[in-house]
Amino acid sequence: MPTQETSRADRTLGKDLLRAARTLAAGGATGDTVLSVPGAGLPEDLAAGLDDIVRPPDPRVGHRVVKGLLRHDDPGPTPLHWRAADPSRGAVFDIALALVAARLGRVFGWRNQQEGRIVHNILPSPGQERLQVGASSVVPLAWHTEDAFHPQRADLLLLACVRNPDDVGSRLSGATGAALSAAEVEQLRRPLTVVLPDDSYSDQEAEGRPPVGVSTLWRRGGNALGIRYDPSYTRRLTGDPAFAAAYDRLGHALEENGRVVPLEPGDLLVIDNDAVVHGRLAFTPRYDGTDRWLKRVLVRSPRPRPAGERHEHGYGQEQVDAQEQVGTARQG
Ligand SMILES: [Fe+2]
Repeated sequence: MPTQETSRADRTLGKDLLRAARTLAAGGATGDTVLSVPGAGLPEDLAAGLDDIVRPPDPRVGHRVVKGLLRHDDPGPTPLHWRAADPSRGAVFDIALALVAARLGRVFGWRNQQEGRIVHNILPSPGQERLQVGASSVVPLAWHTEDAFHPQRADLLLLACVRNPDDVGSRLSGATGAALSAAEVEQLRRPLTVVLPDDSYSDQEAEGRPPVGVSTLWRRGGNALGIRYDPSYTRRLTGDPAFAAAYDRLGHALEENGRVVPLEPGDLLVIDNDAVVHGRLAFTPRYDGTDRWLKRVLVRSPRPRPAGERHEHGYGQEQVDAQEQVGTARQG
């Protein structure tokens, strides 16, 4: 089993995708609105070409890198805050990314994260250097499942690289293949952790909700393990030393198995959010318009998850459906 799946977009496919995105941008669409525009689908041959190279990763590997798919014109300087990223100026790149994401499932955002935008801007921001959010920089971003607190979290997470001048790699690691004993896996299947929304969510609704115990691991088909893990925002519901030992062992195993995925401008990283956790190495922000800048899109496919998750309240966090949200995406 390879440790990475890589596809390489041929130049024609990338060019055709950007051409389609340019046409839609000229019609006034942005990455946040394009999927709700009637008739904004892709030509059949382009759609088929994309489906060929942007496939969901094998759950035992957990990610796929598509090299050079989103080669683009200069998007302008990296903003200092996601709110300053103009959806119109970045529309071609964002639209191309949204169209690719829609080939994989239902695309969505969160009403309380980046003001409901569909295409998120991940860039270092002054004042957030040491937080455990995507806008941090000088501290490593710890291993986490994206939006682990929510039962309807993305199962596919797309990260597209606008620029990355210092080669700050994304880190990935999974429980499948980690040296965990069967007993440790059984411990971690017990719903004994509470995972709260992270600091990138703007409202405090979570505080009034009763805590929900969730499983850290579950069994998927083909000997793969599902994972739901975000220790920075987790508290344990038990003092059982066997559970604590298994949870700590998982943390060590993720660290031992971790790999760095380099991303260059135009590269797309597709992450199976049920298979692997992700993080980022520390780096020194420049704040001069040349900083690392990624775009993030969340996708939910009909893949099943443990039945117990259906009853979770998700701390009241609501999704914005990219396919239905005509006129509701705010421009920040
Ligand atoms: Fe993340």
